Amino acid sequence: MPDQLIVCKSCGFSEKEDKRMGETGGEHLLRHLKELHSQWSRRDELAIVTTGCLCICDNPCAIAYVGTGKYTYLFANIDPATSADNLLSAAELYLDSMDGMVSAYRLPSDLQLCRIARIPPAS
Ligand code: FES
Repeated sequence: MPDQLIVCKSCGFSEKEDKRMGETGGEHLLRHLKELHSQWSRRDELAIVTTGCLCICDNPCAIAYVGTGKYTYLFANIDPATSADNLLSAAELYLDSMDGMVSAYRLPSDLQLCRIARIPPAS
């Protein structure tokens, strides 16, 4: 099973702006991610999936990286208009790590402060 990038499709663009042009921030981010992912050389290694909520609703937009036997990382306060590229760059680091551990300093700079939780795999 490929690793997953989970996007909360219900998140707004920010705490104060739910939708633009009828689209939530999560839907907007998801659309951009899917466009880039369809041309991405590693698309078979990473599935883009959605959820209705990642329970960090006051800090939109939220996503998570999940993989079998890997640490899970939760990110929030992501700008849905500008982050799709950076999220795939971060995904490459996650894919390349056997246990999913990625040092914060290796992340794209715009994402470094957005990483808010690391959850160990089940043992
Ligand atoms: S609405 Fe996105 S985390 Fe809850």
